[in-house]
Amino acid sequence: MQPETPSANMLDRRRFFELAGLSTVALAASSAAIAAAPTSGAMPLANLSLNENPWGPSAAAKQAMLDHLTRVNRYASPETRHLAEAIAAQEGVSPDMVVIGTGSSPILRTLGDYFATQMPGGELITAPATFEVQYKAVEARGGKVVHVPFDDQLRYDVDAMLSKVSANTCGIYICNPNNPTGTVVPTDKMRGFVREAAKKTWVFVDEAYIDMTDDYPHSSMIDLVRAGQNVIVCRTFSKMHGLAAARCGYAIMPAALAGKVRGTLSSGGLPRLAIVAATASLADTANLAAMKVRLKRGREKLIAMADALGATYAPNSAANFIYLKTNMPTRDFVAKMKARNILVVQRGFPQYDQWNRICVGFDEEIAQCHSALKDVLKTA
Ligand SMILES: Cc1ncc(COP(=O)(O)O)c(C=O)c1O
Repeated sequence: MQPETPSANMLDRRRFFELAGLSTVALAASSAAIAAAPTSGAMPLANLSLNENPWGPSAAAKQAMLDHLTRVNRYASPETRHLAEAIAAQEGVSPDMVVIGTGSSPILRTLGDYFATQMPGGELITAPATFEVQYKAVEARGGKVVHVPFDDQLRYDVDAMLSKVSANTCGIYICNPNNPTGTVVPTDKMRGFVREAAKKTWVFVDEAYIDMTDDYPHSSMIDLVRAGQNVIVCRTFSKMHGLAAARCGYAIMPAALAGKVRGTLSSGGLPRLAIVAATASLADTANLAAMKVRLKRGREKLIAMADALGATYAPNSAANFIYLKTNMPTRDFVAKMKARNILVVQRGFPQYDQWNRICVGFDEEIAQCHSALKDVLKTA
């Protein structure tokens, strides 16, 4: 393991870009971007907001993007096919079951549209605090959303969800590990639930953080898609792979459904730099293994911080964030943290308005967060 890398605004800029292995041209452009980054006061900005990977993409992914910089005049159809084949080989499915998008958000939205239009006025079953893209798409198309309360560990209550499935159900959205709680449904229970529910309706499993779980790949539900069930599993290159702003994600689904949604998602083609970076990152298994250790270590630091503060948090997060009880409206918490130069997300859920997510950052950023929380939680 390499030592922790300080954030860009804590380093001499030139040294930072040397570390990142970027060229002089990139150095000039990126220096300007960093100079424009919002910071105030004496303290650097700690960005613990959006579940990103603070260490960024692998060297192989960066090199792939540099190699293709001068080729962005050409659509990337062959490269996209190549990525679909690489994903299919890794997941043990045929390439016609792979759908690639500019991140997983467009896939979530498109499938939400699909569920809602297949069954006008139908109900999507999900949790009270989870990633919103799909259920908002269903609502926007006139569908209903059934938010089934969590169990006492802030996990999806899959037994209760199963009992809610009816003739009006258009689909189930389950995010495992869940954003924002970080909680996971134990793998065997999850597999039993998805298998049963998929006999009655579509089950969409968002696995944005699944590669951070200890029992991955066993924890993934892709085997159920492989077995021909009505299951869709979605993944992203935005988190573990550190490619959030490159924009690449994918889903595995039955080939017939994939054929219907692929055109919508990739009409006009997909971004060459994202496709080649994702392909290189997928192959860089050593980087992914090291990143998993780093992110886990970051999560353990966040948990140690919460314990030291005596704070309440959702137990057993398996992702690169924790969900903390702040005892104040999320708006106030975000403002208080911002005043201390710490970015945290403002995303309230009606039943969890006094909770907030805090993400893994560099050690210095977590330390900065810790000292800010000593103050902020006291004022709750
Ligand atoms: C659970 C979950 N799914 C999907 C996404 C979307 O990621 P992207 O569109 O960057 O692939 C996120 C992003 O935070 C997420 O937390």
